[in-house]
Amino acid sequence: MNWKTVLVLTSGCFLMSLNAQAGDAAAGKAKSENCAQCHGDTGKDDPPIAGKTEADFIKAMKEYQTGTRNHKKMIKAVKDLNDADIADLAAYYAGMK
Ligand code: HEC
Repeated sequence: MNWKTVLVLTSGCFLMSLNAQAGDAAAGKAKSENCAQCHGDTGKDDPPIAGKTEADFIKAMKEYQTGTRNHKKMIKAVKDLNDADIADLAAYYAGMK
């Protein structure tokens, strides 16, 4: 193994670990089809969620999941999402203007 191979391998691992924490906006887009029915393709409809910080977004989603925040439509929307899905969606909507 030469030094270039080592460099490629280590930077690959680094990027993967970043992804696991931060959420992947492209993956979030793929998971947002259902959300877009109410929030719109641009995240600006009823109520707007585009441009929310990832922390606020994740907090809101967790509140619907735990029932701390009660709203029938959203509770149904978050029911089947895991933490990675929520992180991906958060990254996607936070990146919208
Ligand atoms: C059937 C319509 C509907 C669908 C589908 C839906 N939402 Fe919502 N969403 C709403 C409504 C209505 C609210 C406001 C609820 C409230 O007052 O708590 C809301 C609120 C939110 C909030 C909190 C906004 C804030 O400012 O606190 C977030 C974040 C959110 N939705 C994300 C999503 C995501 C992500 C999806 C897809 C997984 C999704 N929603 C699917 C209707 C929907």
